[in-house]
Amino acid sequence: MAKNKLMKFDEMKSMERVFEPSMADFIDVEYELKGNWNEKVFKNNNPIVLELGCGKGEYSVGLGRKYPNQNFVGIDIKGARIWKGAKEANEENLTNVAFLRNVVDFVEHFFAENEVDEIWCTFSDPQPKKPNKRLTSRQFVNRYKKVLKPNGIVHLKTDNTLLYESTIEEIEEYGYEKLVDSNNIYEKDWESFSPEVQEILSIKTHYETLFANKGFKIKYVAFRVD
Ligand SMILES: C[S@@+](CC[C@H](N)C(=O)[O-])C[C@H]1O[C@@H](n2cnc3c(N)ncnc32)[C@H](O)[C@@H]1O
Repeated sequence: MAKNKLMKFDEMKSMERVFEPSMADFIDVEYELKGNWNEKVFKNNNPIVLELGCGKGEYSVGLGRKYPNQNFVGIDIKGARIWKGAKEANEENLTNVAFLRNVVDFVEHFFAENEVDEIWCTFSDPQPKKPNKRLTSRQFVNRYKKVLKPNGIVHLKTDNTLLYESTIEEIEEYGYEKLVDSNNIYEKDWESFSPEVQEILSIKTHYETLFANKGFKIKYVAFRVD
């Protein structure tokens, strides 16, 4: 493995709010932070928001800066990506931002029923050949239901038309409550968003920048799953 990657992995091990559970920590046993994120990690009772497939964690860090009274957990399987956000959060002493390295597929092993208030899926892999692996598929939404509070919200920001359209189809098929639906946030629907939502949507992730520079329209969907 590249030396640079090893250094990042080592550095993450020393970070207070980066967690890298192995299967033995949560399969057949209760993960120690499940139901205890606020007590053991954040030391407050504030709402918890997840960023799934967070990559470098721009939304976790960006929202963490903007909302000190909410807690954010970025989840991704790729450690070298998480390192970037974790380092920033550490350097800025954002005590309301944490990272969990694992697959989203196990989300209900990491969080308890009603522990999570909102979920962000930021530029998730569109999985053209494996619809069940899309983070807004029925399979994943059923997992989110196990951890989200009633009325909990799922947000999807994406450049990808297939992922956007399949999410809208799932919302309609399964009767989720659609709160926002924009297939072109910046050029078409920007003025319809409140200043606060505009500020949130202005956070740009690594993949957003890559695809926006190639001319892809950025889409945003928010829905309630209860
Ligand atoms: C296209 S990248 C987007 C990263 C980041 N959100 C951004 O916008 O720059 C998708 C990310 O999702 C992660 N990912 C995809 N499926 C995942 C899963 N089932 N569990 C955890 N991470 C996943 C990948 O490792 C990758 O970092």
